[in-house]
Amino acid sequence: MNLTRPFCGIIVILFAMFGINSTSATKNYNVLNFGAKPNGKTDSTKAFLMAWQAACGSSDSTMIYVPKGRYLLGSMAFRGICKSPRITFRIDGTLVAPLDYRVLGKSTDWISFQGVIGVSIVGGALDAKGSSLWACKHSHTNCPAGATTLSFTNSKNISIRRLLSLNSQMFHIVINGCENVNIQGVKIMAAGNSPNTDGIHVQLSKNINIIKCSIKTGDDCISIGPGTKNLWIEQITCGPGHGISIGSLGKDLNEEGVQNVTVKKTIFLGTENGLRIKSWARPSTGFIQRVRFMDSLMVNVQNPIVIDQNYSPHNLNCLNQISGIKVDDIVYQGIRGTSSTPVAIKFDCSPKNPCTGVRLQNVNLTYLKKASQSSCINVRGKAFELVRPESCL
Ligand SMILES: *[C@@H]1O[C@H](CO)[C@@H](O)[C@H](O)[C@H]1NC(C)=O
Ligand SMILES: *[C@@H]1O[C@H](CO)[C@@H](O)[C@H](O)[C@H]1NC(C)=O
Ligand SMILES: *[C@@H]1O[C@H](CO)[C@@H](O)[C@H](O)[C@H]1NC(C)=O
Repeated sequence: MNLTRPFCGIIVILFAMFGINSTSATKNYNVLNFGAKPNGKTDSTKAFLMAWQAACGSSDSTMIYVPKGRYLLGSMAFRGICKSPRITFRIDGTLVAPLDYRVLGKSTDWISFQGVIGVSIVGGALDAKGSSLWACKHSHTNCPAGATTLSFTNSKNISIRRLLSLNSQMFHIVINGCENVNIQGVKIMAAGNSPNTDGIHVQLSKNINIIKCSIKTGDDCISIGPGTKNLWIEQITCGPGHGISIGSLGKDLNEEGVQNVTVKKTIFLGTENGLRIKSWARPSTGFIQRVRFMDSLMVNVQNPIVIDQNYSPHNLNCLNQISGIKVDDIVYQGIRGTSSTPVAIKFDCSPKNPCTGVRLQNVNLTYLKKASQSSCINVRGKAFELVRPESCL
């Protein structure tokens, strides 16, 4: 006799009444049942990988649950293709990297997802313990490059929500070769002087939303690489760090372009740059087309609006070369606040491919309560309504 059956029936009816799909049962996999230990000391890498194997191999929607506590984890790759159509990592605990930076330092990634579809990460904290590697990089030259904290490669329908990423060795989050990605309510924190700790890096990906995130790092807040298409960035607070950057592009001769990027309602606090486009002074097939920078606030930003097509760090092989990247249809609308240097708007485009279709509208950037300046080289476009500093277009 099964007493629970009528009861379940009622619940199914209730679910149906409230529009909850009663057919999509979710199977749960608690990492503790695979041997993970929430004590911060016992290596739980194997347990996490086994939980993934189980969830991935199920034909149901699945949830991998990480309860409260600290889990010591080495480099882990979660690979598809999975049978499960939807896998949710529900994290209430903190995933902790080994204290010795050399353990992860030679890996490209700490936690990577490859070739997966329908994976969500909800909640939790990732503590990569990067500060000892930064210290090495500040004082020596023979340190490992370091690992990205979280990466998704060749994946689709990905969601990352309410995650905290702390002190990455290198980039915090990388989206590479992906489609349909939502990143929302994510917090990223690393020291303002930490090397190469970019917040979120996107490349070779399309239909990406990054919304309501707070990003404090030592490098770019969000960096946008070649082959990015339909990227929507909204309500981000950046700083400290280097701001939001399209590029560097044009490092290679054959490169995919960047098209249709929107950055909206973003706040930059004391960052090195605000809204930046940057390309190497080198030949390239790449391009940047249709970018909308809107309704953003600069607070003491060194270069609030900047296009730099003469990027050539340490003059690496590009002395006297010219950028082949074509920059077209770039709108700056509703950008206000303060610059910490006299030149608030700087367009330095390629002599071979001048920037075209650049539009400034309702821009008000001041420097020490005075008027700031703008500087234009090889750029064509127009200014509309109020533009301070006075437009050089
Ligand atoms: C991805 O999500 C979209 C919309 O939510 C859905 O239509 C599509 O089937 C999903 N793709 C895959 C491969 O699961
Ligand atoms: C640009 O991307 C947005 C999503 O970020 C999309 O809604 C819009 O349709 C795209 N526009 C074009 C012209 O491709
Ligand atoms: C431009 O911004 C400054 C300081 O932020 C402000 O005092 C000034 O009124 C603004 N100008 C206009 C026309 O909005």
